[in-house]
Amino acid sequence: MITRPLVSNGAGSPAQVTAHGSSGGFGGRPPEAAGPLWAAGPARYAPGMELNGTSAVISGGASGLGEATARVLAAAGATVVIADLNEIRGKQIADEIGGQFARTDVADEASVQAAVDLAVATGEPLRTAVSCAGIGWASRTVGRDGTPHDLASYQKVIAVNLIGTFNVMRIAAAAMARTEPADEDGQRGVVINTSSVAGIEGQTGQIAYSASKGGIIGMTVPAARDLSVIGVRVNTICPGIIDTPIYGNSENAEESKARLAAPVVFPKRMGRPGEFGHLVRSLIENDYMNAEVIRFDGGIRFQPK
Ligand SMILES: NC(=O)c1ccc[n+]([C@@H]2O[C@H](COP(=O)([O-])OP(=O)(O)OC[C@H]3O[C@@H](n4cnc5c(N)ncnc54)[C@H](O)[C@@H]3O)[C@@H](O)[C@H]2O)c1
Repeated sequence: MITRPLVSNGAGSPAQVTAHGSSGGFGGRPPEAAGPLWAAGPARYAPGMELNGTSAVISGGASGLGEATARVLAAAGATVVIADLNEIRGKQIADEIGGQFARTDVADEASVQAAVDLAVATGEPLRTAVSCAGIGWASRTVGRDGTPHDLASYQKVIAVNLIGTFNVMRIAAAAMARTEPADEDGQRGVVINTSSVAGIEGQTGQIAYSASKGGIIGMTVPAARDLSVIGVRVNTICPGIIDTPIYGNSENAEESKARLAAPVVFPKRMGRPGEFGHLVRSLIENDYMNAEVIRFDGGIRFQPK
């Protein structure tokens, strides 16, 4: 009797269903009708793009959303290269998940090339690139004291968040293009970029951050079109308020996080990094998700302040 993974429980141990049995309430079909479950009807679905036995590059993988994603993809069988500035945390997490660490500044071409080369050198086809590296910045276009926004900090945020994301995407996709297709559609890989709801409705003082995140949204459709010829899909996630070290660990951090999360519609709390990792995995494994910008925010809509 053939068994195949139907859906994952997110912890790397897929639930099993018999291809022609009645397990899971999918009804029986004769053995000769056994084929891809997702082709057999609306209720049948099995993951498409396979993570097991592939490699993945995750920028910002040493903390927060990137770390959670690294753990989820490793649990699904991917060999993960954590590409991050933070050497101590990066190495520690890489060791824990059986991955590798590459000290990487996403804004630097040679540095990103080295991280992608490390993934290629694993010998497993590079199928996934997730950009989570990012920095925040708060300053108004013209400050209360009348001074214009500092140009260097604006350029820095654009360099890391926007140019860094482009840098990872272009270099990783070029490596994916050199792999054999993974399926009959000619699919070779998936790029997931991390924007923010601030890229859609930036608040007062978020001019630099919102510009960088809006740029990531703007790249989504043209990147998916450019990369379609090599069989690479591109999706962008816009998180709302997710509980990560980006909000700091000062005495006031809990209070300020509670204030930020108050307008969340439901569930009434911050998002969890593991929930982000789960979404990344879903977008990778669902072959028809492409060129999409997905809010991941518990329904929050940012007010001006
Ligand atoms: N946490 C949230 O609520 C939230 C909301 C919206 C968007 N985001 C975005 O999600 C991404 C991840 O955020 P997080 O909350 O996990 O933050 P985080 O601070 O926990 O992690 C960011 C990681 O990026 C790394 N990094 C920073 N600059 C880098 C560079 N130049 N090169 C390589 N690595 C670099 C850091 O070392 C760190 O490990 C960011 O792009 C952030 O803007 C987060």
